[in-house]
Formats: sequence, structure tokens, C-alpha cells
Amino acid sequence: MWQGKSGDRSMVGENLSLGQRAQALRWLVSYGARQPMEAARAQVRTWLQNRRGHSGQGITAADRAALDETNPELQSLRERYAGLGDIVGTSTVWIPGFVRPEDLLYFRGDNCYVWQNQDNNTPEKYVLTYLYLKTIDTLGLLDDFAEDGDFGVFTYPTGDTDKNGNKRFVSRDLLDSANELLFLDRTLQISQLPEVKVLDIGAGYGRLAYRAVSALPNIETYFCIDAVPESTFVSSHYLSSKGAARARVVPLDDQQDLVPGTIKLAVNILSFSECAIEAVEYWISRCAELKIEHLFIVPNISDGDEAIRLVNGTDYSPILANYGYHLSHVEPKYANSEVQKYGISPKWYYLFSAS
Ligand SMILES: C[S@@+](CC[C@H](N)C(=O)[O-])C[C@H]1O[C@@H](n2cnc3c(N)ncnc32)[C@H](O)[C@@H]1O
Repeated sequence: MWQGKSGDRSMVGENLSLGQRAQALRWLVSYGARQPMEAARAQVRTWLQNRRGHSGQGITAADRAALDETNPELQSLRERYAGLGDIVGTSTVWIPGFVRPEDLLYFRGDNCYVWQNQDNNTPEKYVLTYLYLKTIDTLGLLDDFAEDGDFGVFTYPTGDTDKNGNKRFVSRDLLDSANELLFLDRTLQISQLPEVKVLDIGAGYGRLAYRAVSALPNIETYFCIDAVPESTFVSSHYLSSKGAARARVVPLDDQQDLVPGTIKLAVNILSFSECAIEAVEYWISRCAELKIEHLFIVPNISDGDEAIRLVNGTDYSPILANYGYHLSHVEPKYANSEVQKYGISPKWYYLFSAS
């Protein structure tokens, strides 16, 4: 009979006591019995992590009445934006029906705007990301930001309490927004710039707009613009329901509020990647026209190299260069390399500046 190098017969289990054998048997039986349940749980987890959904919470009767397909304001935006197809091209991602009626109501759920369980974002990743952000939160954003769970967002416990002694919950909205504002403060000292104006291109439901004006009183106006009528519609509803007066939604077909030479920074988060190349060219040309100094871009997929790509792989860095924007800084979303592996939705942050 083969034995371990040391001659330790326990490797073949022959010198186990009766008690140890009984214990091992019990473990094996219970392990075996657990298998179908564990496998089913894993399947449910995977299923949950790959589907859209929402918490079903945080909707008032007024929201339900307004956030409806038949709202004349939405119908009008659809008609007006339909005529602008030649400037924004045809995205392969934002096709008709991509924003479902349910997403209009629960726009902060896990859907086309912000993936929450999708991307394999498990609750433990939320805790890890929260604890990491606490170590870099020079602006105290995690203490400032609340997550009230409205409009269907998924919330996750942190094990911490807030300043009122209540359990602190976070969302991807809250954590990503804090991280992005901390990046802008490290690179551009955004919290120190007097009366600054920001333009968010592809602003979604106004996630960063609301967080930015809540955290930074020096932001004079945070403009949100989008080429998808549903996004203009839900962001108008969200920002007015939050009373975010310094955040202003600009319709695609009426941009007169955007005055050349007055906007310091443009932001594009997980948006250019999903656009047609014509749209990217249009927006970058608009940034140049408006004499915007800096452009913060977060691509959907990247490994931090100089090429910056659409989801179909097309590198659009030559367009940035053509309009005079050069890469001034790039860094991983999480400075800690393990958090960049295990945190929620790791990405890369790019800052371009006018030459
Ligand atoms: C994944 S969402 C991200 C939303 C937001 N930036 C955020 O991070 O919460 C992508 C956004 O790109 C917008 N978008 C799609 N096509 C666009 C286009 N051609 N021009 C501008 N925005 C577009 C969508 O309406 C949506 O708001």
C-alpha cells in the first residue's frame, strides 16, 4: 500500500479513531446533502446577477402617475429626438425598447442605466468597496451621502452606522458617485473651483448630477444632456423630485444654455462606449466648440491603455486628438490592485485635457 513520504498512515485514513470516522462520515453525509441546495443557491445567485430587476421600493403615487409611457412630455421628446438621428447615428446598444416601461418607473433599479447585481456585484463586494472608499474619502462624502432607496435602487448593508446612529446602506449609485467625485478632486481639485459649471453627456437618470450638487456647493450649474429621450425624461423627473436646483437638464434639441467658454469640465460615464461613432464625434466636437477644458471619460471596457474604445472595439482616441484633447491622466477605479479585482464593477478613469 502507498504511504505518505513520512510514512503517516493517516493519509489513507487507516489510523482514524472510531469517533473521528463517525465525524468524517457525518460531515460527508451533510456535505453530500447540501450539494443540491448549494447548487440551486448558486444558480439563483447567477440568475439574479445576470438579470435586470429593481427593489420595488421608493415610488410614490405621483411618480407612478408621471413616469408612464403615455406621458405627453415623453411623447414629445421622442418625436423631437427622432429627427436628430443624423447627428447621433445609430447605437447598437440603445435601440428602441432598450429602456422598458418598467425602467421608466424604477429607473434607479438594475437596468440599462446602472448595473447593480449584474456584473457579478455580490453584497460582499459592496462592503469591500465601501471600506476601501472610506480610506480615500478626503471630502467626507460617505458621511454626506444618504441612500434612501428611492426609484427601485438596490441597497446593501455596510455593517456601519451613519451620523444618526442608523444602519448605513449603500448602493452602486452612491459608491460610484463618491469615487468619481474623489477622482475629480484629486486630479482637478473640483471642490475648490469657484462657481464651476459641469456638463454630463449621457447623464442617465442624473445619478452623478444629484450627488455632485449635493456634495459640492461650489458647483454653480451641473448640466445633464442625453440623446435618448427616456433619459432626458427620467432625469428631469429625478432631479426635480430631489430638489436639485443647480442640476439642469438640457434637451438635445435646445442647447442654448450651454455657452462657449463657461463650462470647465465634461463628464462621460459608461456612455460613449455604448454610442455610435458618429455620436462620439458629435459630442467631442461640441466639447471643443464649447471650449471645455477637461473631459472625464469612463469606458465600459478598458485595461488602462491609451486606446479608448466603443463596445464594438473601435478606438476613438484619434477623434479626441483631432479635436485637441490629449490624455492627461489615467488610473484604475480602485488604486488597490485587489480591490480593482474584487470591488464592484472595476473600470478605468480617463482624464483628457485641451491642448
Ligand atoms: C449606462 S448609461 C450611463 C448613465 C450615466 N452616465 C451613469 O453613469 O449613471 C448610458 C447613458 O448613455 C446615454 N446615451 C446613449 N446613446 C447616447 C448618445 N448617442 N448620446 C448621448 N448619450 C447617449 C443613455 O441615454 C444613458 O443615459
